[in-house]
Amino acid sequence: MAKRATKQKPAPEPDDTPNLTTTDMTDMTHATATRPASLMTKSPAHISHMFDALADRYDDMNDWISMGLHRLWKQDACHQTQVGKGDWVLDVCTGTGDMAEKLSAMVGPEGRVVALDFSAGMLEKGKQRLAGRKNISWRQGDALDIPFEDHTFQSAVISFGLRNVAHVPQALAEMARVVKPGGTVVILDTASDNPNPLGRLYMSAIMPFIGHLIGKNQDAYQYLNDSTQTFETPAELKIRLRDAGLDKPVVKRLGFGSVVLMSAQKPL
Ligand SMILES: C[S@@+](CC[C@H](N)C(=O)[O-])C[C@H]1O[C@@H](n2cnc3c(N)ncnc32)[C@H](O)[C@@H]1O
Repeated sequence: MAKRATKQKPAPEPDDTPNLTTTDMTDMTHATATRPASLMTKSPAHISHMFDALADRYDDMNDWISMGLHRLWKQDACHQTQVGKGDWVLDVCTGTGDMAEKLSAMVGPEGRVVALDFSAGMLEKGKQRLAGRKNISWRQGDALDIPFEDHTFQSAVISFGLRNVAHVPQALAEMARVVKPGGTVVILDTASDNPNPLGRLYMSAIMPFIGHLIGKNQDAYQYLNDSTQTFETPAELKIRLRDAGLDKPVVKRLGFGSVVLMSAQKPL
């Protein structure tokens, strides 16, 4: 079982305002440099720059490549959190804040959503788009070293983000750490073991082509396919969730097998 370290980190203040310009990228680089070799397989600098470059077109591209279905999958994932009015929720790898937006409606003005990502470009886009959502705090930070204390949130979610992190067990251990006992961890991502041949063809050939035509960024969509192929299977993720100290893992297939939604609970 993964060691659950106790950390004393600042809890988000209700008026916690985003401060993207002062984020200490040096700290993040340092954290990367001191990580074990196994954490270096995906370079945080490379991934965050890729998403910075994609930020302006990211939302449109999501609609195109999923034919709008990503909105329904995200709604489903938000329901799995079981959060309600007044709760605090963490959206890890928030991107432009799709999940944060839905969660913000669920927790209401008395609750709080922290939207965490290491790409300043994606965060800035989300911040502009959701400027009216006063219960969302935008934070630049690393999913592998979540800048909050243990047991801060009722739920932590990660949507289409886990596949990108350099070390899946560490990201899950961090999410489990910051969730309160009885709280939930929810994962939404592409499935590496899609049994549907049409779905596999779509991911490997059609989607990168659409990415090239519309997003003018075939590399990013080729990366989406490649990172999906090398991502852990739902069965492996189930073991990872247990290793992170989480119970009652539930797996749901969406998008004709191409997407997986998983949730698990932190024991009381
Ligand atoms: C495919 S986007 C998903 C965005 C959003 N959650 C959604 O579902 O549309 C992946 C996001 O994960 C972020 N990301 C990847 N690795 C990260 C890490 N280690 N720490 C923080 N953010 C990370 C990227 O910057 C990017 O914004």
